[in-house]
Amino acid sequence: MRFNLLLLFAPLSGALPLLPTSLFGLASWDVEGFARDNPLGPTTGGKGGSTVTVSTVADFKAAVTGDEPKIVLVNGELDFPSRPKIGSNKSVIGVGKTAQITGSGLDIVNATNVIIQNLKISFILDNDCITIRNSTRVWVDHNEFTSDISKGPDEYDGQVDIIRGSDWITVSWNYFHDHWKSSLVGNDANFRDIDFGHLHVTYHHNHWRNEGTRGPAGRFGHQHVYNNLYEDFLYQAIHSRSDNQVLVEGNVFRGKTREALSTYGLVIPEDSPNTCVCGDEELDGFANLGARNDWGGATVNITQVGDFVKAPYKYKLTPLLLVSPLVKFGAGVGKI
Ligand SMILES: *[C@@H]1O[C@H](CO)[C@@H](O)[C@H](O)[C@H]1NC(C)=O
Ligand SMILES: *[C@@H]1O[C@H](CO)[C@@H](O)[C@H](O)[C@H]1NC(C)=O
Ligand SMILES: *[C@@H]1O[C@H](CO)[C@@H](O)[C@H](O)[C@H]1NC(C)=O
Ligand SMILES: *[C@@H]1O[C@H](CO)[C@@H](O)[C@H](O)[C@H]1NC(C)=O
Repeated sequence: MRFNLLLLFAPLSGALPLLPTSLFGLASWDVEGFARDNPLGPTTGGKGGSTVTVSTVADFKAAVTGDEPKIVLVNGELDFPSRPKIGSNKSVIGVGKTAQITGSGLDIVNATNVIIQNLKISFILDNDCITIRNSTRVWVDHNEFTSDISKGPDEYDGQVDIIRGSDWITVSWNYFHDHWKSSLVGNDANFRDIDFGHLHVTYHHNHWRNEGTRGPAGRFGHQHVYNNLYEDFLYQAIHSRSDNQVLVEGNVFRGKTREALSTYGLVIPEDSPNTCVCGDEELDGFANLGARNDWGGATVNITQVGDFVKAPYKYKLTPLLLVSPLVKFGAGVGKI
């Protein structure tokens, strides 16, 4: 049926410049949101630079260092003994369905214009799978992030954490599953002055399944969260606190998802049990609702409505009834 149209795209998928820009006209397949439309210019990664294929840790580290534009294709599994730092103007793209990162995760620090695509990043024990710190224009697209939820919230850290005044980021078409703390935006109430007015992040067409908290959790910034599928997001999916603003639209919540959206400042004990058993109190955040969401059986607690009523860019909104099949079909690795 309609989805067979993708077969037409398949022969093109090795050649990046020829990638389709839209999935059946129902969603953007190209960079969309804050990573595309922002005051610094669109995120292009290593476009225009040389292409290098790497299959060892040493070659990877050499290839991603520095600011020179480069497209770094990752072949097979890389087990990092420490966290590589991705420099500016880089596209880091997994080859096929088997490119993966284990051991230590990736740092994007003091950088601009970085694309991370088609990588499975799993069981990272040293820190987050990806930490974006003091960096701008980052597109995290079509990756898979997973570990094991049975060991509690503090066994593993975040999947994609965005901190220290980072800005103009899009997180799209990722498959986040079997992990507790997903995506924290602004990781410390003490960094209010650094973070405030930054942390503009677009989350769209991500598939979250069997996760605990932070889908995402934001402080001090603005996140546009649309057309994501949440299945069994156990404790709290979207959390906006400490004067953060979210615009939430066209998302679908299913299964054992307890709380879809909250702006209540309490950091629930299921999120950070290492502080107080009763949870930590912060200031409330703000939330606005755009196109209709399907909350399933999950609760919504909006304590303050903000002024983030409309995204400052054009974007393709998928009809609500098609969000679940389209996200299941398109999210994760081996799709581009
Ligand atoms: C690469 O990134 C740096 C910022 O670190 C920027 O100033 C520079 O213009 C970029 N280089 C190219 C060739 O795009
Ligand atoms: C980021 O930049 C700051 C300020 O220039 C510097 O102190 C820090 O070491 C840099 N971090 C990394 C990981 O390069
Ligand atoms: C952030 O990164 C920029 C380079 O992009 C650097 O000049 C600045 O010092 C960094 N700030 C911090 C706090 O690391
Ligand atoms: C919703 O927020 C209010 C604070 O405005 C809080 O008293 C209440 O406990 C919250 N509900 C839940 C289910 O967390």
